[in-house]
Amino acid sequence: MSDDTLSQANIQRFNDVAATWDDKPGRLAMARHVAAAMLKRLAPAGGGRMLEFGCGTGLITALLAPSFHQVVAMDSAPGMLAVLERKIEELPLKNVETFEGDLSQTLPEGAFDAIVSSMTLHHVADVPGLLKRLYGHLSPGGQVALADLDAEDGSFHGDKPGIAHNGFERDDIRRWLEAAGFANIDFDTAYTMEKIGEDGVLRQFPIFLVSAQREQ
Ligand SMILES: C[S@@+](CC[C@H](N)C(=O)[O-])C[C@H]1O[C@@H](n2cnc3c(N)ncnc32)[C@H](O)[C@@H]1O
Repeated sequence: MSDDTLSQANIQRFNDVAATWDDKPGRLAMARHVAAAMLKRLAPAGGGRMLEFGCGTGLITALLAPSFHQVVAMDSAPGMLAVLERKIEELPLKNVETFEGDLSQTLPEGAFDAIVSSMTLHHVADVPGLLKRLYGHLSPGGQVALADLDAEDGSFHGDKPGIAHNGFERDDIRRWLEAAGFANIDFDTAYTMEKIGEDGVLRQFPIFLVSAQREQ
């Protein structure tokens, strides 16, 4: 499936679920664990500029924002960003700005000290190409911290549209990061999600966090 077809399917799907996205306790627990694993691997001492792509309603954005000077939270679904924009007003999150865009086409301008994302890579067809583009948007010494599903049998999403990958083999991610120029590549298991599939079977889905660094 092309990135364009995937993008359209995802914009529609995530606009439809935006209002109730934060209602699932499992999602909040995953965001807490993934954000904590990201902060352990990132070196945000003194702040810096951070990009989160596929930020959704900002579950992770809100947890990471206090550790950075400036945060750009990017997503392609305006409905998800509208939920985050309410949080920016209400919490408030004064150092967070939103950016609506399809990351297979565009990324926000300027260099970032950290680029993070959770559960979004599996929506992108050309992950090796995206990793190369992310490298070009990092400051020297800047880091990525990317979380997603370990390779699974497809039962995590069932027949939901907009899925490009049934998780990832860690060796593939490592190879793609190395090809993009990254060093200091480390993997953690940030969380294990338990989910009942459409067949009624309870399964465990480990979520990896990979961190990697652009050369100084
Ligand atoms: C599974 S949700 C994860 C949201 C959030 N990171 C979280 O953990 O709650 C995936 C998010 O990626 C966004 N997304 C999917 N494809 C995208 C693309 N091509 N460009 C930008 N955002 C995209 C969706 O709109 C959605 O908000």
